[in-house]
Amino acid sequence: MIWCNKVGKEVFTLQDTVGGIVAACPSLSRIFEELGIDFCCGGKFSLEQACARKGVDPVAVVERLNVTRSQPPSVDGFGAAHMSLTELSEHIVLTHHGYLKSELPRLEATANKVATVHGGEDPRLFEVHQVVMTLANELHGHMMKEEQILFPMIGLLESGHGGTGHYCGTIRNPIRQMEHEHDHTGGALAALRELTEGHVPPDWACNTYRVLLDTLSRVETDLHMHIHKENNILFPRAIELEDRRLR
Ligand SMILES: [Fe+2]
Ligand SMILES: [Fe+2]
Repeated sequence: MIWCNKVGKEVFTLQDTVGGIVAACPSLSRIFEELGIDFCCGGKFSLEQACARKGVDPVAVVERLNVTRSQPPSVDGFGAAHMSLTELSEHIVLTHHGYLKSELPRLEATANKVATVHGGEDPRLFEVHQVVMTLANELHGHMMKEEQILFPMIGLLESGHGGTGHYCGTIRNPIRQMEHEHDHTGGALAALRELTEGHVPPDWACNTYRVLLDTLSRVETDLHMHIHKENNILFPRAIELEDRRLR
């Protein structure tokens, strides 16, 4: 089964151009970045030629590309109902905070590059870059507060060593603050969606521009799942546990 939406053929071959591969499946740009293969200006080279220029094994690369594209997107059904609050917090940090920490710098750099090169054609790209920078900055601070304050409080509460005597008072206070910040994040994601007309590239968009929109779309999807797990699962369960302890 092929998971890249725009792929019109079964598998990539050594004769496919690097640019064509990224245009069909933008997430594969990560592999080219890792190998140092230029998929934007050097996009006209065939995969075989591009690998030869970099001195890497083309057969191994085409195999990797085809395996990666066939992997399903991480549909995170995950068994939250069977997780302790501590396990759930650890899962969120590992899965979603880890994802953002690796992806946000890449997103910022790509937004900067696209605004610099194409902002003259579409000034909204400067705004996209600005919103991305602000969002990234706020998310780094937000994750730090969860990892250093709220999640440890939840862990202490679950182990029976925390509760209303904590310096933050009831756990409802930091949760309320995190939910407020989530609302702010949701607003930024909506703004980015509007500025990019639903993450849809214009006809003239280069591959870097397409990668930016693809990354924005993936970050949005992951953040929606991330915030859902916190707002709708972790936080209510933590409040319920604290309430039980107070009875
Ligand atoms: Fe989080
Ligand atoms: Fe959060």
